[in-house]
Amino acid sequence: MQKKMEAALNQQINAEYYSSYLYLSMAAYFESLSLPGCANWMRVQAQEELMHALKFFDFVAERGGRIALTAIEAPETEWKSPLDCFQAVYKHEQHVTSLIHGLVDLARELRDHPADNLLQWFVAEQVEEEASADKVVQDLRRAGDSAQLLMMIDRELAQRVFTPPATGSGT
Ligand code: FEO
Repeated sequence: MQKKMEAALNQQINAEYYSSYLYLSMAAYFESLSLPGCANWMRVQAQEELMHALKFFDFVAERGGRIALTAIEAPETEWKSPLDCFQAVYKHEQHVTSLIHGLVDLARELRDHPADNLLQWFVAEQVEEEASADKVVQDLRRAGDSAQLLMMIDRELAQRVFTPPATGSGT
């Protein structure tokens, strides 16, 4: 694997761990608001990000690259409201999408077809990630100041479960 791709994938491993850390911080925020369903949604999201990190980790290892883990930035700990928090999720996922698209561009520039192939899974995943965050944003917007509707949304988000991929690496 070319060094440039190896370095970029190492950076992405860090970005996925940061995402996991951010969502776990959001889970803690929702625990503090006594909204266990929203906290559950964030916990599942945090687990998915760990799975993403491991998918890149396994790929670099399989290709004979060297993984170098680096410090994970501290995430924010407070948001203004549940809506503000889910808007931050949506914005963060848009940022991750741009990182993934940048990696696709690099893989194509380097003619790294295996990396391109792996990244296509992430391109599709990001479409889902943005859509699921946006759905909660829309629901919370509609709920407005209604505590009753917020409780209903919280109950719905309590249903989300993490489904581990069929294989350890998710490939
Ligand atoms: Fe790993 Fe939420 O993208």
